[in-house]
Amino acid sequence: MSKTVFLTGASAGIGLLTARALAARGHRVWGTARKLENLPKDLPGFHPVVLDLNNRAGIPAAFLAAQEEAGGAFDVLINNAGSGTFGPLEGFTEEEFRSQLETLLFGPLDLVRAALPAMRARNRGLIVNVASLATEFPLPFLAPYSMSKAALSAMTEGLGIELAHTGLRLIDLRPGDFRTKFHDSTKRIELSPALAAAYAPNLEAAWNAIDKNMNAAPDPQQVADALVKIVEGKTKRPVVAVGDIFQARIAPLLVRFAHRAWVQWGLRLYYGLKTGKKT
Ligand SMILES: NC(=O)c1ccc[n+]([C@@H]2O[C@H](COP(=O)([O-])OP(=O)(O)OC[C@H]3O[C@@H](n4cnc5c(N)ncnc54)[C@H](OP(=O)(O)O)[C@@H]3O)[C@@H](O)[C@H]2O)c1
Repeated sequence: MSKTVFLTGASAGIGLLTARALAARGHRVWGTARKLENLPKDLPGFHPVVLDLNNRAGIPAAFLAAQEEAGGAFDVLINNAGSGTFGPLEGFTEEEFRSQLETLLFGPLDLVRAALPAMRARNRGLIVNVASLATEFPLPFLAPYSMSKAALSAMTEGLGIELAHTGLRLIDLRPGDFRTKFHDSTKRIELSPALAAAYAPNLEAAWNAIDKNMNAAPDPQQVADALVKIVEGKTKRPVVAVGDIFQARIAPLLVRFAHRAWVQWGLRLYYGLKTGKKT
């Protein structure tokens, strides 16, 4: 049965592939980007929506106008849009830090709040929040990103529990690395020469490791396919990890049994980070 889906970040990467995959299966998609011209044209059943997650005041109106067009309620909301900001935590200005939280946490929360009343009134609806495996494995020099994703995961699970008595469903989707332009769009914060020197060479090692991992990562179509299954009700698990076998299956399993110090050792090794002697 055809579903109505509100999907953020439909102009690139996972979101664009998801919009195409959903449209190909006859679903109607209201897909967002910050600029209209970046959204697909001539995709059957696709409705472009301009939405900037960092312009909070505009979010409810953009969503509610789309909801009206869709018939008064969406079957599915997918909070997918996102971007990263890279640098040592102590170098982030308050504004840079807040901006990550707006994009990755407060913006998606605004959409959840906007979608809930109509979904509750119908006693059905699905909300999928695209978090990340960074929820479990924080990325070096992407602390505001990792903490926002961890918070988004906690929010998804918490809300799912709060809505247990209703027909609504919440899913926390956690992709591993996928070959999109995400890393190319990642902003690097400006650092004073002293701070840059203090974090070299780990800063560059981490940047290059992420770049290498992203280039060698699997095709993001895998995530789009997982999202289609979720939309069509074929996946009902509240937390869905998607990625290569190591990232999505083995690592989350290991993390449950391993001492956290080993996990951190593994992360340092994975990102090629030098370790100092702890006093
Ligand atoms: N790729 C991965 O390895 C990976 C791994 C784990 C999690 N994820 C998550 O998956 C989601 C999609 O990532 P992707 O890899 O597909 O990235 P991508 O190719 O860079 O696409 C990002 C999408 O988000 C939109 N976007 C970015 N900042 C926005 C903002 N402030 N307001 C509104 N829209 C914004 C972009 O639209 P415009 O720029 O056109 O506005 C674009 O459509 C993100 O939440 C990301 O954190 C990705």
